[in-house]
Amino acid sequence: MAELPECKPSRRAVMASGAATALVLSTSTRRSHAQPAISTEAMIMMPVRFKVNGESRELTLDPRTTLLDALREHLHLTGTKKGCDHGQCGACTVIAGGRRINACLSLALQHDGDAITTIEGLGTPDKLHPMQAAFVKHDGYQCGYCTPGQVCSAVAVLDEIARGVPSHVQADLLQRPQASNIEMRERMSGNICRCGAYSNIAEAMADVAGGRG
Ligand code: FES
Ligand code: FES
Repeated sequence: MAELPECKPSRRAVMASGAATALVLSTSTRRSHAQPAISTEAMIMMPVRFKVNGESRELTLDPRTTLLDALREHLHLTGTKKGCDHGQCGACTVIAGGRRINACLSLALQHDGDAITTIEGLGTPDKLHPMQAAFVKHDGYQCGYCTPGQVCSAVAVLDEIARGVPSHVQADLLQRPQASNIEMRERMSGNICRCGAYSNIAEAMADVAGGRG
């Protein structure tokens, strides 16, 4: 059998082929980094209109924007606080369509057409809402981080009780709920205070409720 001629690449050919491979790899890596999965040009933005603290506001948002981020980052209403961003602390509580909600768990687009009240809309430094005044009077805070959410929640809780919305601690669901201490504590249980100002918050709420708590 005839012997095949020896095929031995020269050192120069090996070096040239290595350099070419490296160039191809580096070019393809750069391209994959330069192309994000979703290009920003393709991102769909959507309009939303709502009334915030009595003022009509219109925004064009990424549909994934939470109500909390819309308020804080787009409308610069930073009174509403971001604590956990997971629906666990209540720091982001606002009143939307008459109901207290965790703004971090709600998309802004879900509130198209809603009336939203934040802590900035309840009162002003010169003219505090009665609940804000009661928090001051009873020292219902220490660091104050949870306070905007506590105050919004407390206002909405007394409104819920006045409207007869039942809770888990009512012995008889057919009876109108009363603004008792246990009733208010149960309804405020979603608002966490790391400083532990709970007793003072309960006193503030009882004061506004007319001492019934
Ligand atoms: Fe919304 Fe904590 S920030 S519940
Ligand atoms: Fe500090 Fe409530 S006052 S977390």
